[in-house]
Amino acid sequence: MEKKIYIETYGCQMNFSDSEIVASIMTDKNYESTTEADKADIIFINTCSIRENAEQKVLNRLKQLQVLRKKNPNLVLGVLGCMAERMKTELLEETTAGSKVDMVAGPDAYRDLPQLLLDVETGQKAVNVILSAEETYADISPVRYAGNGVSAFISIMRGCENFCTYCVVPYTRGKERSRSVSSIVSEAHDLFERGYREITLLGQNVNSYRYKDEMNGKVIGFHELLQMVADIDPLLRVRFATSHPKDMSDELLEVIARNQNICKAIHLPVQSGSSAVLKKMNRKYTREVYLQRIQSIKTLIPEAAITTDIIAGFCGETEQDHQETLSLMKDVGFDFAFMFKYSERPGTIAEKKLKDDVPEDVKSKRLQEIIDLQNKLSLKSNRDDVGKVFEVLVEGRSRKSDKYVSGRNSQNKMVVFPDDGFKPGDYVKVKITDCTSATLKGVVV
Ligand code: SAH
Ligand code: SF4
Ligand code: F3S
Repeated sequence: MEKKIYIETYGCQMNFSDSEIVASIMTDKNYESTTEADKADIIFINTCSIRENAEQKVLNRLKQLQVLRKKNPNLVLGVLGCMAERMKTELLEETTAGSKVDMVAGPDAYRDLPQLLLDVETGQKAVNVILSAEETYADISPVRYAGNGVSAFISIMRGCENFCTYCVVPYTRGKERSRSVSSIVSEAHDLFERGYREITLLGQNVNSYRYKDEMNGKVIGFHELLQMVADIDPLLRVRFATSHPKDMSDELLEVIARNQNICKAIHLPVQSGSSAVLKKMNRKYTREVYLQRIQSIKTLIPEAAITTDIIAGFCGETEQDHQETLSLMKDVGFDFAFMFKYSERPGTIAEKKLKDDVPEDVKSKRLQEIIDLQNKLSLKSNRDDVGKVFEVLVEGRSRKSDKYVSGRNSQNKMVVFPDDGFKPGDYVKVKITDCTSATLKGVVV
């Protein structure tokens, strides 16, 4: 009997994409993937270290999984991803994980997983947390085990060398490296042939994608890669995440504007509206430069949705700095935002050099003000869409009622409308009639 493997994923899209690479490596070695943890012989938890509560969630989950180990003493429990990289052998100690973990594998060690499992079987210490300067898993065709058959992620690069002072990613993911153009384009092509209609190109900072073409030695930048992927077929929608404001070029915006199938949605994390805080964060742009980038987006792609990430209560943030964040949010009118309280991460520059000096209750109050404002902005953005007609790519049934289907428009907003025999992957023109701050509702036109 083939051994069954269950993968549970936390963290960013990149981690979900990595889990599909892990599934591919394992199924190649004749392991069978399962969606039920209690039927598995091997459980991999692919983890995130971005904030303390992300790690706490995983540690609690590892404790919970002890129950399964009691039922099946041969169960192998492996920790993958960013926590594996950050905490290393510490995770093998029972006190840390609250349960026994058998294996620890960092983000660049997934090709070694079959060997690590053999090491577990023979009672050896199974740890590989070596970061690589080259690994991109370019030749591995991810197994889309949890997808909807319509949209898929494609990792185009790994690592990050921006060293924003608060961020753990450069330490858990290592050096920045770009994957070959040909492997990306052929993966996108293959997905389209298999019925996928939307792909998201992933990297921590896609704007710094650079790859020397194997054929002619020409260096390909992100805007050129995006054009090549968009050229695969007009019916294939293309998205990407994430852009760093410091190097988002007008050339890129022009490519987005020119191509109907490149989605008009730009995620541009600002983090703070105060230039003083941005400097402490080592973001390498000011409030003014950020606002100039927004102006370019609004000029070149007027219909674009603009979304962001914001951190409340970073080291040294004053009430005045916080007010600047609120005013920037209003100036831009973000369509959506991910909002977080600053969480100090061990080993980062901020942890070593700056004081985490905003009291917890002040952080909470500021975060709440940011969330309240964003809810208003999101509602306004959605209300402005009432009466407009959008092309929606159907993803599946609406969660609330099976008489409705849901999908996204180019701006990445969720649209719900009555089912009329639609299938996932269909493009449908929908007129918006109503909304909440989270969803658009409409009728087919
Ligand atoms: N590479 C992306 C973001 C990766 S992490 C970028 O640079 O935009 C996703 C988001 O988590 C970040 O944009 C930031 O808002 C948040 N984040 C990262 N480290 C954090 C920390 N220590 N505390 C709170 N939020 C953090
Ligand atoms: Fe972290 Fe900054 Fe890199 Fe994004 S760009 S992953 S926030 S260091
Ligand atoms: Fe988390 Fe690692 Fe992604 S820290 S956000 S899983 S790169």
